[in-house]
Amino acid sequence: LAKVEVELASIPEGKNVIIKWRGKPVFIRHRTADEIQEARSTEWKSFRDPQSDEARVKKPEWLVMLGVCTHLGCVPIGEAGDYGGWFCPCHGSHYDISGRARKGPAPLNLEIPQYEFTEGDSKLVI
Ligand code: FES
Repeated sequence: LAKVEVELASIPEGKNVIIKWRGKPVFIRHRTADEIQEARSTEWKSFRDPQSDEARVKKPEWLVMLGVCTHLGCVPIGEAGDYGGWFCPCHGSHYDISGRARKGPAPLNLEIPQYEFTEGDSKLVI
């Protein structure tokens, strides 16, 4: 199956990029130190889809996930919502800076695709 390669140097800290992978949007965020701290210091065990930030990323600064709302499949908007992450305008789901569902109808966190870092961690391959 087709793989997509992304040059990580092209994504500055604090920025989102959206790429297409198998017809779906994939969100890549280069998280800042503050965002990582926020994602990791939140008490997640009571979330509707309880997952630690550590379980959702391979490297703390790179958040990679499918840009498909787990409610009914709209594409959430970045840098929006009540939790500093993504907001789905279709029915008002809020995701945090780890892509975890925090408010609204979305039942699950944004899905994490299979990916790896290559070439001395300069590239992401999805
Ligand atoms: Fe995103 Fe309904 S599809 S909130």
